[in-house]
Amino acid sequence: MKKIVTTLVLTSMLLSAGSATYSKGYTKQDRIEDMHSMAQAMIDIQTGFLFNNFVMVQEGVHNLSTAVENVKPPLEEVEEENPMTRYMNNKVKLTNQMVKKINKKALTILERFKDNDATQAVQAYTKILKVCIECHIQIRHW
Ligand code: HEC
Repeated sequence: MKKIVTTLVLTSMLLSAGSATYSKGYTKQDRIEDMHSMAQAMIDIQTGFLFNNFVMVQEGVHNLSTAVENVKPPLEEVEEENPMTRYMNNKVKLTNQMVKKINKKALTILERFKDNDATQAVQAYTKILKVCIECHIQIRHW
């Protein structure tokens, strides 16, 4: 059973890695899928906190970091030609900054939780959630 799960996970990882490098580039659909992975990872991290389960937190952080590394403005937005080009460039910069911040705080979660400092770990978690929402407000206009 474990072997089957591992194979499935590996296959889906290979498939998603393949689709990201596929010549059509990063699409809006890819971004939505990465968003779903990140949302699930955040849930896993939170569950790990509540059950005091380091492995769960670790997996959540790993999945979050993996997904967030992919996130970038989709090709159709980067190549969009309109008077808002400067704004689009900001979007790229903004995305890179936020991705970096999420990745950094994800590592903090792991370090603090490992040191039995759950309070600091939760604080890093909250900071990540803040970045998620910030980006949604700024880029998605939620
Ligand atoms: C760089 C900007 C950015 C960051 C950072 C970001 N998001 Fe998003 N997110 C978006 C955009 C843009 C959409 C809308 C995608 C679309 O509809 O095409 C979105 C949509 C979503 C959705 C809805 C997907 C759907 O099916 O409609 C979820 C869930 C989500 N994000 C979760 C997260 C989580 C969790 C984080 C933080 C760990 C996060 N996002 C961080 C830009 C961001």
